[in-house]
Amino acid sequence: MKGIVLSGGSGTRLYPMTRAANKQLLPVYNKPMVYYPLTTLMMAGCREILLVVNPSDEESYRRLFDDGKQWGLEIRYVVQPRPGGIAEAFLIGREFVGNDRVGLILGDNLFYGDALPALAERGATGSGAVVYAYWVSDPSAYGVVEFDRAGRPVSIVEKPKEPKSNWAVTGLYFYDADVCDVAAHIPRSARGELEITDVNAHYLRQGRLHVEKLGRGYAWLDTGTPSSLLRAAQFVETVEDRQGLQIGSPEEVAWRSGYIDDAGMEKLIQPIRDTEYGKYLQRLLARG
Ligand code: TTP
Repeated sequence: MKGIVLSGGSGTRLYPMTRAANKQLLPVYNKPMVYYPLTTLMMAGCREILLVVNPSDEESYRRLFDDGKQWGLEIRYVVQPRPGGIAEAFLIGREFVGNDRVGLILGDNLFYGDALPALAERGATGSGAVVYAYWVSDPSAYGVVEFDRAGRPVSIVEKPKEPKSNWAVTGLYFYDADVCDVAAHIPRSARGELEITDVNAHYLRQGRLHVEKLGRGYAWLDTGTPSSLLRAAQFVETVEDRQGLQIGSPEEVAWRSGYIDDAGMEKLIQPIRDTEYGKYLQRLLARG
């Protein structure tokens, strides 16, 4: 299964934090932000990953992830010359997608919930497009989906002034290989971007859009403003401190998913043995 992590963007809402550092490299509590979406894709079963990055950040991401083999992944990189919208991932990533189904996740989205792997796996193995909707108090900053009485999606609108529902479309999407052609044929929006909502609306018109509701048992946080970034960090700190279990650790997900074995985990631990993070991984391994 293939997955794309969108890790470019301009991060203007976080300026000046993003003056010298790409948004997705900033920390959310104790890890780089991009670890969280990456592990979500890993839990969905994606092992071939394409990272879409800004021209000046490729080297940093390579330092962070290398080729992914250490985590049982195959990670590739592609540069997005300038932020041209989320759906541009499918123009830049066309060759990577080929004839396969593909997952896309926004590099600043954090998902949490113990049924998430199963839910994401259903999206990964489903048909057409599968997207996830989350009830939020103010949906006007998102793509908003309206359902009929039978729970079928009937409309999807980007950043509506008068939202038809509180169901926001989250930053995790799964598509069949047609998505590259769909993205190639949608016009740019008024802000000059290829909008993912236009791609989803296309699938909806064809009757091939499946919207799964994420109920109360999930957290979906984005980290695009100073206060949402702080709240996400506090959320991770609260859960991790209470449970002694980490959220968004690629080493842990790789090991639990069987992408690496005990020896592979041991090798990852060796150089970071004395760090808090290394000690956490050692505890996991010791417990088996
Ligand atoms: P946004 O938060 O919509 O945009 P941004 O990251 O540029 O931030 P700001 O609005 O503050 O300027 O992007 C959502 C996610 O998608 C984020 O993780 C960055 C990524 N992205 C790209 O990689 N390329 C793009 O062209 C766009 C628009 C976003």
